[in-house]
Amino acid sequence: MRDPNIGEILVQADELAHRVRELGAEISRDYGGRNPLLIGVLKGAVFFLSDLMREIEIPCEVDFMAVASYGSATDASGVVRILKDLDRPVAERHVLIVEDIVDSGLTLQYLLRNLGARDPASLEVCALLTKPARRKVDLPTRYVGFEIPDRFAIGYGLDLGERYRNLPYVAALTERDELSAGPAHTASRAG
Ligand code: IMP
Ligand code: MG
Repeated sequence: MRDPNIGEILVQADELAHRVRELGAEISRDYGGRNPLLIGVLKGAVFFLSDLMREIEIPCEVDFMAVASYGSATDASGVVRILKDLDRPVAERHVLIVEDIVDSGLTLQYLLRNLGARDPASLEVCALLTKPARRKVDLPTRYVGFEIPDRFAIGYGLDLGERYRNLPYVAALTERDELSAGPAHTASRAG
């Protein structure tokens, strides 16, 4: 897809596939005999979750939650509201929260508290991406796919205003100065 918003590629499609396979194998080893319940956080985690689940070789189940974190398009405020709750109780289940990205960590902090209060047998996190430079709260993230720099990421589930989730790779959003420099360069080269 050619689009001026799509900047440098942070994680290529084949790197994603390889790491997802590794995570699936790790989870299969760690959760043998425990029938884990994977909880996908809508909508961004759906893409990662569906690939991850197919790399898990033990019985497991899936459920979904949708949350809204108030804030601007690119910054969460830490105030979280549940838009869709789980279909079933999680008491005594081995719960694995599957997230697309941990940025400030505020959304995940809320989810860990909320789900932790429902008495699961265990509660862990599997995040595809993490931006350590942006973390505001310290969180236990058991499984992490990739650490990325402090850039707004799009693709493989991550959106900017609901767009770009379908990119098969993770890219950085073009920075504003790069954007304004782009057409100017093209124009001068063309002219
Ligand atoms: P946090 O609460 O700041 O950790 O981030 C909460 C949510 O913001 C994530 O689950 C994503 O949906 C979204 N988000 C954070 N950083 C990015 C990004 O770089 N690209 C796209 N979405 C992001
Ligand atoms: Mg999300």
